Amino acid sequence: MRALVLNGPNLNLLGQREPGIYGHTTYEGLIEQCRSWGGELGLLVECRQSNHEGQLVDWLQEASQFAFVVLNAGAYTHTSVALRDAVSALQTPVLEVHLSNIFAREEFRHHSYLSPVCRGVICGLGPLGYRLALQAGVALAKI
Ligand code: DQA
Repeated sequence: MRALVLNGPNLNLLGQREPGIYGHTTYEGLIEQCRSWGGELGLLVECRQSNHEGQLVDWLQEASQFAFVVLNAGAYTHTSVALRDAVSALQTPVLEVHLSNIFAREEFRHHSYLSPVCRGVICGLGPLGYRLALQAGVALAKI
């Protein structure tokens, strides 16, 4: 089984970017963890990151070849109708993940364009959220 982990803008800066909010794990560290957690689950995990909305849309349009998608769209979560439409158009389940608890932060982060069209949402648990999303994706694929 193959899973796609998509990370959006500024997530390449993990580890250096506001560590009090996003933690000390670097993007490379997060990706390594995702691959290793995937291995434990018998999953092949492909990880991609882009700062560009259109690139994320293109990747979502190609995602039907994966069993499921784990998506942290970063700030586009709160702004992007284009990403929401791309998720809606996809038959493959999408699990929305955020490292931080977006509901405990500024009010503009409380709304997600993506949550209503995603299969599930995990936030506030740091990198563990990605692990739980991978586990959930596998479990859902077996139901
Ligand atoms: C984020 C939360 C977003 O509000 C923010 O813009 C990000 C990261 C998170 O993982 O906590 O870039 O998606």
